[in-house]
Amino acid sequence: MTGRYSRITGWGKYTPSRILTNADLEKMVDTSDEWIVTRTGIRERHIVGPGETNATMSVAASRQALDVAGLMPKDIELIIVATSSPDHFVPAIASEVQYQLGAECPAFTISTGCTGFVYALATAHQFIATGAYDRVLVIGSEVISMFVNWQDRNTCVLFGDGAGAVVLEVSNQPSGVQSFVLGSDGSSGNALIVRGGGCAYPMSHEMIDDKAMYIEMDGRKVFKFATRVMGEATLEAVEKAGLTLADIDLLIPHQANLRIIQLAARYLKLPMEKVVVNLDRYGNTSAASIPIAMVEALEEGRIRDGMNICMVGFGGGLTWAAAVVGWGQPAQPVEWPLVWRFAPAGRKVSMAATRLRLQARQLADVASYHASSVLLPLYTFAGLHKTGDKKRRIRIVSCVLLTQHAISPPSIGVPGTQQTDQCPHPNARVASHIIWPFGIG
Ligand code: UT7
Repeated sequence: MTGRYSRITGWGKYTPSRILTNADLEKMVDTSDEWIVTRTGIRERHIVGPGETNATMSVAASRQALDVAGLMPKDIELIIVATSSPDHFVPAIASEVQYQLGAECPAFTISTGCTGFVYALATAHQFIATGAYDRVLVIGSEVISMFVNWQDRNTCVLFGDGAGAVVLEVSNQPSGVQSFVLGSDGSSGNALIVRGGGCAYPMSHEMIDDKAMYIEMDGRKVFKFATRVMGEATLEAVEKAGLTLADIDLLIPHQANLRIIQLAARYLKLPMEKVVVNLDRYGNTSAASIPIAMVEALEEGRIRDGMNICMVGFGGGLTWAAAVVGWGQPAQPVEWPLVWRFAPAGRKVSMAATRLRLQARQLADVASYHASSVLLPLYTFAGLHKTGDKKRRIRIVSCVLLTQHAISPPSIGVPGTQQTDQCPHPNARVASHIIWPFGIG
């Protein structure tokens, strides 16, 4: 490890108040509470209501996470949102969340289906470990209900909406994210797919008639894949963290199907008391399922300082992901290497130097622009005296006038060229394009 660790210091969740029970679904499709409970373990799920969007849920969960961490939105240096159901294709949901939250930082979205939160956590950890950022907000949020065909009993009984968020902060204590495992097998991508709406099958009447904007799933194929990768990814992440399964205090699996979770626990020989299950009340909330389950476990007092927890998931792609996280502070504090203790001050000094350098260059540019607008006509007239050619003199005079016109910032208007009072370069470029065809050289 580098000496820069990333610790979860804040957490929050949001789930819509509108609840859809198995009894409700019995009225919508040919299904039964008995079938849904025995095959999946799900009893009810939360579905967005009026005014609730992916962004509003993300922001609500993030505000809680910031409160727990004792931070303001402006303290956050990077936002990563994991989702497959953004409010818009463009702009990215992460930027919408950054704006609505009142944060002033870069933001981007990760889309790896149900494994999105663990992928985002691993990504955030990299930014912290390398020293790029000290405080990152990681969100998993989904409005999967918008992509569900409510007439397809194969899928509509499974999914729900919600959001979970964590604040990841730099620490010099060897806790927090200890290891991660990420995987992808695109050869089985068709097993869980929304065929339409993208570039391969764009939005059209035909696409809508084809119902291609909804999730389609080969449930059995995904089930088989999940039971294999959940155990394997957990083992790999635990080994990478230098731990054994006996050191894992709590497993937080993706909440898709109780049978998948039970099979993974059996494979790992973990008792179910060490496994978080809340899918009975939320269904499969995709990228939000792991953070929501984690926050519930915290609220129930099942996660305490010094514990090792393992998050593991599978999903569209097909992808898998696992991460081992040490909770709270370890018993033995560790001294931070000198280089990292001074890193924040070093970054500030280097930023100030860069800012000074840019300001100096800008001043020099403005000065050279003013100098060129005086010297260019002088230089041209000096050469003109020597030629004595009357026609050429007229051509050159018009050229000089045009040149002056061109490098005068307020009057120029060439499309596609950036022009401001502070930036004379583009105008100078335009001027040279105008001079050249006249044959001056
Ligand atoms: O985040 C990743 C998301 N995806 C998953 O996690 C999916 C993983 N797969 C699963 O969880 C399970 O495969 C399902 C829950 C989707 C399905 O359970 P299954 O035990 O694999 O059922 P099945 O697909 O083999 O279907 C068994 C029967 C079929 O009828 P027939 O062909 O045997 O007559 C289905 O048509 O159950 C029928 N069926 C239903 N019956 C009542 C399928 N859906 C329903 C339903 N209600 N909702």
